[in-house]
This record gives sequence, structure tokens and C-alpha cells, in this order.
Amino acid sequence: MKVFPFLHALVALAALTVLPSATEAAEGRPDPPAREHGTDEVRFRPPPETTIPDDAFGELVRRGRAIFVDTGNEAPEYVGNGMKCANCHLGEGRKADSAPLWAAYTMYPAYRSKNKRVNSYAERLQGCFEFSMNGKAPPVDGEIIRALTVFSYWLAKGAPTGVALAGRGYPDVAQPARGYDIGKGRQVYSAKCAICHADDGQGQKVGDDYVFPPLWGKDSYNWGAGMHRIGTAAAFIKANMPLGKGGSLGDEDAWNVAAFVNSHERPQDPRLVDGSVQKTRNEFHAHDGADFYGKEVGGVMLGQGVR
Ligand code: HEC
Ligand code: HEC
Repeated sequence: MKVFPFLHALVALAALTVLPSATEAAEGRPDPPAREHGTDEVRFRPPPETTIPDDAFGELVRRGRAIFVDTGNEAPEYVGNGMKCANCHLGEGRKADSAPLWAAYTMYPAYRSKNKRVNSYAERLQGCFEFSMNGKAPPVDGEIIRALTVFSYWLAKGAPTGVALAGRGYPDVAQPARGYDIGKGRQVYSAKCAICHADDGQGQKVGDDYVFPPLWGKDSYNWGAGMHRIGTAAAFIKANMPLGKGGSLGDEDAWNVAAFVNSHERPQDPRLVDGSVQKTRNEFHAHDGADFYGKEVGGVMLGQGVR
């Protein structure tokens, strides 16, 4: 009988949390932002792997998955670093808040300010090869883009087209009022990241393959990749790192450690204009959020590129 007062308290608590939104709905206010973190909101669930059909279509789904998780070995001509697609799109492209493929697929064709035109899904995939993978774009009508497209389409089975699903991209983390600090980021890095990504940021290999991916240097994403922006890296890191402890860093720590990571050299921006870092900065980086391309850090100008 002692249980009932406790239950009442629970019901009261539940009512308290439900009431404000019920009022809002009655007043016709829009739903709260879909990307809110740490809530129990219902999210789209991609189909389980066991349901991949045993036919020609299923074969291509499997091929796309294989390319996504082991890109350098499955599509070597198009990869110029040590990264795999799944390094930044966790859970094999399934994890919410880690730019999942199921949330991406249904949002293309879409205009991209990066190249100032409407991009097909295939072109969006090509972009990640050129920048995040520091490689070459596979042909739009070739087997690799087809397999990755089929894999994405299959993951998005049942999702509405043209609706930004909760969990798309990486949840934005606003730049802290005090800005960001590379020195403080170095401390976060030593305490929480170096154990896997190594003190020198070069990750760790078993044989020829990285088991912990590099964060800078020749085998990392290049200066044109989305992740080189401090805000994008902060958003990815806050939601997904340290691995298995996503959401544990505060906004400032996420920005500081993202600034530290992105204050190191990496492969050149393939859009390099007339061999000039300054011209490239003016054209592609000046209005693209906070980054260190073409900026001086510790007396050294970044953006020279490494090979
Ligand atoms: C270094 C990290 C990194 C790697 C490696 C990477 N990507 Fe991405 N990818 C990103 C970032 C950052 C974005 C932009 C996310 C955002 O804007 O929220 C993105 C966006 C995308 C999108 C569009 C997502 C959307 O919701 O519109 C697709 C599709 C995609 N990547 C596919 C791939 C594929 C395929 C590969 C491998 C060939 C790959 N990515 C490798 C970081 C990476
Ligand atoms: C327990 C090991 C571990 C820790 C600790 C860890 N990471 Fe990672 N990190 C990984 C792994 C593994 C991946 C690739 C995930 C995958 O392929 O599924 C990754 C991916 C990344 C990526 C995207 C891929 C790349 O190489 O650019 C970034 C950026 C990153 N981690 C930053 C950090 C930062 C910053 C911290 C500390 C706050 C951190 N990580 C802590 C294991 C770890």
C-alpha cells in the first residue's frame, strides 16, 4: 500500500512535464526543435541488417555497406588518406547525431552553398570522397556511387522524403561567448582523447589499417572537408566523443578541443586557387565559419598542406 503515494508523485511529475507542451500545442506553437539533445524523442529506425534481401538489390546494399565501413580497401582508387566513411558517420551510418545516412538520403537533391548549386545525392557522396577522404570523386554512374546510394536508400526505408528527421547531421553547438582556446583544448585532448587517437593525433594502426583514426596529418581529412571547421568538429565531438561517452563534454570543452585538433596541418584544400593559401582562404574559407586555414597559430601559417 506504501506504493501508491509514490505512484501519485510519479503521475504528478509526468503531468507537470506533459502540461506545458499540451498548452503550447493548443496555442498552435510549433513543436520544439527536433534536434534537442538528451530527450526521449522518438527517432527513425533504419531496418536491421538481417532484413537485407537475398537478391541483386540486397547484394548492392551489402556492397555499399562494405565500402562505407572499409573505404580504403574497397574503393582504393578514390581514397587519399587513412579514413573510412564510418569514422565520422558512426554505427555504420546508422547512429543519430552522427550524420546518419537514413536522414541524409531523403533530403536530396538539395542546394549546397559549398558549390552554389543544387546537388544530387550522388554529388553529395562525391564531395565526401574529395574532401573528407582526401581522394577523387568516383563517377556518378559507376558501381561505387551506385552501391553507396542503394545502401543509403535501404537504410532510409519508410522515412518521409524532404522532411529533416531528428538526428540528422551533428547537433549544433553554439560558439561559447568566451570564444575558444587551443591551450585549454590541448588539456582536454591529453585527458580524454590521446588514449585512443595518440599524443601526436596520428591514431593507432593494426597492420595497415587504423583502428583509431588520425585527427590531423597526411592521413586525415583535408582543409576543404566540413570537419576542418571548428564548429562542425565541435558538434561531432560533443555528440560522439570520447567514443561511447557522447554528450559528456561541455560546449566549451568541445569547442576548445575541436580548435586544438584543427590547429594542426592536414592535406591541402583541393580547391587551392593559383597556389595561394590567401586567395583560397578569401574564396572558400572567409565566410564559412571559424577555421584556421590561412591563419597564423604559434607563429606558423596554417594551410600549407601535408602529403
Ligand atoms: C572526416 C569525417 C568524414 C568522413 C571520413 C566522411 N564524412 Fe560524410 N560528412 C562529414 C561531415 C562533417 C558532413 C556534414 C555534416 C553536417 O553538415 O552536419 C558529412 C556529410 C555527409 C553526407 C550528407 C549528410 C546530410 O545529412 O546531408 C553524406 C551522404 C556523407 N557525408 C557521406 C559520406 C561518405 C559516403 C563517406 C565516405 C566516402 C563520408 N561521408 C566520409 C564528415 C565525414
Ligand atoms: C575509446 C577510444 C576513443 C576516445 C577516448 C576518443 N575517440 Fe575519437 N574516435 C574513436 C574511434 C574508434 C573513431 C572512429 C569511429 C568509427 O569508425 O566507428 C573516432 C572518431 C573521431 C573523429 C572523426 C574521425 C577522424 O579521425 O577525424 C574525431 C574528430 C574524433 N574521434 C575526435 C575525438 C576527440 C576530440 C576525443 C576526445 C574528446 C576523442 N575522439 C576520444 C575512438 C576514440
